[in-house]
Parts: sequence; structure tokens; C-alpha cells
Amino acid sequence: MKVHYKINGKDYEFDIHPGKVLLDVLRENGFTEVKGNCYMGTCGACTVLINGTPKTSCTILAAKINGAEITTIKGIGDILNPHPLQKAFVEKGAVQCGYCTPGTILSAYALLKQNPNPTDEDIKKAIDGNLCRCTGYVQQIEAIKYAIALLKEGR
Ligand code: FES
Ligand code: FES
Repeated sequence: MKVHYKINGKDYEFDIHPGKVLLDVLRENGFTEVKGNCYMGTCGACTVLINGTPKTSCTILAAKINGAEITTIKGIGDILNPHPLQKAFVEKGAVQCGYCTPGTILSAYALLKQNPNPTDEDIKKAIDGNLCRCTGYVQQIEAIKYAIALLKEGR
């Protein structure tokens, strides 16, 4: 079956098997920045924004969200023009293997869109579905707070 999405601002049409999950459809079509791990909705590595809301793409049938707007980590910034969250994660040492990083940053990005002045508790809640086995969470929370400061300074 044919599905259409807007991914990172561009229109795409894919011919998919109706039983495929979004994570596989994205990765098979070149969006390998979306990471797969547990395939059970528990690790958060595969998080993307669907119509602005963070969702685990391994638990969503691609066919069910035909027409959706999808944002991957590459949709918020890139190496030449990083989003303050991307900059902050690097500068604050919140990235080691990087496997969890796209999902965690997208969860934080969605939080800051809704609430530019979150408390530590708000931040913890926003990223509690994104598991990290490397850095732990202290640096990630520091990075998110640093990104908030960068955003306020317009950097
Ligand atoms: S791969 Fe989707 S939540 Fe772990
Ligand atoms: S940086 Fe390796 S899992 Fe988080």
C-alpha cells in the first residue's frame, strides 16, 4: 500500500507492507538516524515526533499514520547548524555511544516547545521514556538546562 508523510519538512511517498512498523519504514528509506533497539516501546531509542508529539516508532504501524508529519533528529538541526539542544548535549558531555541521543533530544525538544521554562521534575518526566546505558541522566538534564539558557540568549 502507498503511504504519504511529510518528514523533516519534505513530502515522501512509500510503498509499504501494511504490517510494518514506522521504525522499519523510516530506516529502510534512509532515515537511519532513527535508532531501533528493544522493539517493544520500552527504551525510547526509536522516538520521533509525530505531528509534534514524541512517539516510539517501533510501536506504531506505519499505515496507521498515513499523512502524518514526522520529525527525526535531523529535522531539528544538523552538524553545520545544530539546534541548541544538540549543541548542549555535545558541550555538556551528555553523549557517549549516542544511541539514545536522538530520541532523548526529541523528547526534550517537544517539552521545550510546550514549556520553555520547565522544572527539573518536568525535564525528568519528559525524558523518562528514553533509557541511556552510558552517561546516565545527570549530564542530560544539565544539557537540557544549558540548552534552555542558549535558547533564551537566542544562540
Ligand atoms: S526500539 Fe522502540 S522503544 Fe525501544
Ligand atoms: S549515550 Fe549510550 S545509551 Fe545513552
